[in-house]
Amino acid sequence: PVAIPVPHAPTFQEIARFEVQDTLVVPREYRYDVLVAWGDRVFADPNDYFGYNNDYTAFLPLGTDDSEGLLWVNHEYVSRDPWVDTFDVVVGMPLPGETILRNRNGRLSDDQKRTLALLVLYDQGGSVVHLRRDSGGTYRVVKGSPYNRRITGMQGFDNPAQQLESDGPAAAVFRKGPDGLGTRIIGTIGNCAGGLTPWGTILTCEENFQIQVVEAVDADGQTDNARVGFDAFSFPKFAGVHLGLQGNKYGWVVEIDPRRPDAQGVKHTALGRFRHENVAIRAEEGKPLVCYMGDDRTGGHTWKYVSRNLYRTAAGAANSALLADGTLYVARYELDGSGRWVPLALATAVDPIDPARVTGGKLLLPNRPGGGAQEVGTGAPLKRFKQQFKTLADLYESEGAVLIDAFLAANAVGGTPAARPEDLEVHPRDGSVFIAYTSGRASADGAPDETIFTTAFQEADTDKRGKAPHGAIYRLFEQNNEPTALRFRWVTFAVSGEAIAGGAGFAFPDNLCFDADANLWMCTDISNDNEPVPNRLSAPDHVTSGLFGSNTVWFMPTSGSQAGQAFPFATGPAGAELTGPTFTADGRTLFLAVQHPGEGEGWRSGNALKPEKQTRYELLSADGKGTFVQTRLVPFG
Ligand code: FEO
Ligand code: CA
Ligand code: CA
Ligand code: CA
Repeated sequence: PVAIPVPHAPTFQEIARFEVQDTLVVPREYRYDVLVAWGDRVFADPNDYFGYNNDYTAFLPLGTDDSEGLLWVNHEYVSRDPWVDTFDVVVGMPLPGETILRNRNGRLSDDQKRTLALLVLYDQGGSVVHLRRDSGGTYRVVKGSPYNRRITGMQGFDNPAQQLESDGPAAAVFRKGPDGLGTRIIGTIGNCAGGLTPWGTILTCEENFQIQVVEAVDADGQTDNARVGFDAFSFPKFAGVHLGLQGNKYGWVVEIDPRRPDAQGVKHTALGRFRHENVAIRAEEGKPLVCYMGDDRTGGHTWKYVSRNLYRTAAGAANSALLADGTLYVARYELDGSGRWVPLALATAVDPIDPARVTGGKLLLPNRPGGGAQEVGTGAPLKRFKQQFKTLADLYESEGAVLIDAFLAANAVGGTPAARPEDLEVHPRDGSVFIAYTSGRASADGAPDETIFTTAFQEADTDKRGKAPHGAIYRLFEQNNEPTALRFRWVTFAVSGEAIAGGAGFAFPDNLCFDADANLWMCTDISNDNEPVPNRLSAPDHVTSGLFGSNTVWFMPTSGSQAGQAFPFATGPAGAELTGPTFTADGRTLFLAVQHPGEGEGWRSGNALKPEKQTRYELLSADGKGTFVQTRLVPFG
């Protein structure tokens, strides 16, 4: 077997650019195998099944090589469209003892609503599957292995012994919360990307919790489900509210140990509550542990967590305690390419950026005394806010409350709202941090203005390299290359856009990973609700993702003469996003998830691919080289 990458240049035959096919396309010298898909019953309990819309993956070898190991897979969400109108398909896999729902469009009994809400939560979370590689180099799931298990969004709903735990400053807030569970938590939801710890656990990140549970908090950090009336409840939206889940317990980083099937997850509240995309760890012997994190929303922040105590390799799993006690910082970027990390501490001064720098001219800030958020404009309103609130202690009752409302607290202390920070990765050789800013396009996710297009960070970038409406990848260097530095420099690594317009040829960068030779691999996230982009190149007319074609995995050298150039390695079927790229240590296999094939416009368009064709795409493996996990879309009928 030959490793996929070699240093600084692609070794594969590029696939065609801008094409859309109803299949996964990999270079012709590679092959892929489907490992496991939604609905597969590979668990010890025959009622359990593999979850939906796979995202982050991580591979943990069980022995001294990669021939056998545990694969962790995130299950991010249930596709809302078209599922929302045909939810009998959503519930095609009933829970034990439940009746399959056949009603449509909301005419549901209370029992049916409860069942549906539980199913929506069940499909999220993650799975551990035990894999073994055969002599031909193909991984297969070891069915019924004691390691195989589901972690779900409803875990512990019926069985308190299976509830998750929490630690860090917000645990004190949870003890006073209305759900009566104290520091224990039901399930994990919205599991987007994640990270792997040096001690062999995985971190799964709760991203879009705000459409499932209540996001807005008061000065004491509590959430109130009455903020979402039952009228606002539409499946699968606010399934968590329907079941009474306490909103401030979602939106966290969750640590799970795949090697310990009896251990439930722990939510580490010291890392803040926001739309967590990922965790990228920088662990150096005898130094604090550092985590870099993305906050995937328009105007979201770029985060760093620094542990109070020091990382020691020999401490093994005890290093997990480092994630319970430390300081969370938000990045503040300056136009001259400098930047600093601002701590989210009660004593930190209130000093928001001027809202005039944000498109729409308004910044979301904590609303006091009413709770939740308010839009504050430039000039007198901003001045009034700063006169009224001097430090975060004037806005929040405790450090736990600050962390629960981390996004708004970060706006208050002057963090730079950015263009959807998704994945971050630490360069394995030089410690620099690569950040995928996916885009600043319009979003209804609570940004200051739904028409927001440019963020302050893009404004900064305009001065350096020009606007990047289709996203860009930046690189951040800590001062003196110290992970705990409070100052940094930032540069543009690659800008999206057409090559003929000076871009790198891709659009909407999202998941990042490095191979053993420190080449960057990047998956795009051209979302299916993008307005069609005029096609000036060769994309077929029916492709709603426009000139950039289907979502693609790109290979990008980080040094040498081709540094920053992008070479297409794989594309997904129409409507799909390729997510969760993970290389085995031996470089022979790439695990990849094919998420939401056929979602969105690609599904509805008369020219688009028919649903019955969109069956089995989860990728994997190229003549002993590439392996990919997929999401299966079960055909109708
Ligand atoms: Fe779930 Fe930010 O992608
Ligand atoms: Ca993502
Ligand atoms: Ca994304
Ligand atoms: Ca997605």
